[in-house]
Amino acid sequence: MSEVQNFKVTIDNITIEVPAGTSILNAARMIGGEVTPPAMCYYSKLKESGGKCRTCLVEVSKGSEKDPRPMPKLVASCRTNVMDGMEVKNITSEKVVDARKGIVEMLLINHPLDCPVCDQAGECHLQDLSYEHGTEGTRYDFERRTFEKEDIGPYISLHMTRCILCYRCVFTADELTNKREHGVLERGDHSSISTLLNKSLDNEFIGNIIDVCPVGALTDKTFRFKNRVWFTKPVDVHRDCPTCSGKARAWMRGDEVYRVTARKDQWGEVEEWICNDCRFHKKETTDWVIEGPSKIDRRSVISQGHYVDTKTTQILINNVIGKEPRLLMDIHDVSDVNKPEVELSRIPGPAHSDDFKTTRD
Ligand code: SF4
Ligand code: FES
Repeated sequence: MSEVQNFKVTIDNITIEVPAGTSILNAARMIGGEVTPPAMCYYSKLKESGGKCRTCLVEVSKGSEKDPRPMPKLVASCRTNVMDGMEVKNITSEKVVDARKGIVEMLLINHPLDCPVCDQAGECHLQDLSYEHGTEGTRYDFERRTFEKEDIGPYISLHMTRCILCYRCVFTADELTNKREHGVLERGDHSSISTLLNKSLDNEFIGNIIDVCPVGALTDKTFRFKNRVWFTKPVDVHRDCPTCSGKARAWMRGDEVYRVTARKDQWGEVEEWICNDCRFHKKETTDWVIEGPSKIDRRSVISQGHYVDTKTTQILINNVIGKEPRLLMDIHDVSDVNKPEVELSRIPGPAHSDDFKTTRD
């Protein structure tokens, strides 16, 4: 058997060796931290995914050792493989930072800013992206797209105005079911996710399309408006399920299970698909064997405060830009209440003022 060749690639001044055939995005994920481009449509578990949203654009400043010419345009890192000796710029490229701002502005042209009432708020990739790369206003003055409400069944709610047409749900349904469940109809700004005949999505694994959706276009009807995600605690649970692995994540508040999702990795991707029965019908603590609190690796609202063992993002920014990042404000310096010595992740449950009381108080 021939050995897989390794290629050297440098991303934001950090060099790594990766097997030939690795995409720039996956090479950056191997480095981790800030140099990893955001990805709204690529999903490593879905064969056809990627190349739709352009959030992962990077600058290739050196094509390869053999052909060092830079690539003339920014490229989608999820669809471009590394070459030996390639040099890539992500956060060190002004062009990329500028392009990403433009992409976020474009994604938000039609996406309503209804985070206060959206169930995805707190774990929405577009919310994180706009927070990091967005601008205060939009230059778009025209009417936003509107759609007729389509009922896609008793479990899943479709908000087409929030959809960014990443195709993840379509690929997921195609891979997990035997027939085409739904797809993207029409072209250009008329495109929409639809079942065409207004029918229910009723496959027993279809609930997974909720988990892959990066925004709040597909949400769980059994959890709608019941709680904010940051008030619930994710707990790894399992059960003996005849249909799927039975390994899931229960989002609990006190003793109540508010929703059940698949477990996700640090890139927000599902580790193992779960069936509808586990997801929508098992909402009692007695239905599950509790393994313990989930580790949330993603940097988002859901990783703040009260989750145990939250991994902080690897700080690479000094290596990359050669200086300390500019901190706008350290909350510990300005708050009279907060105590830096109190580790929020060690507090069992949401933080309370008593947790910050010292003997002096
Ligand atoms: S509904 Fe969600 S997963 Fe499906 S295409 Fe739209 S944004 Fe992507
Ligand atoms: S993640 Fe690469 S184009 Fe969407």
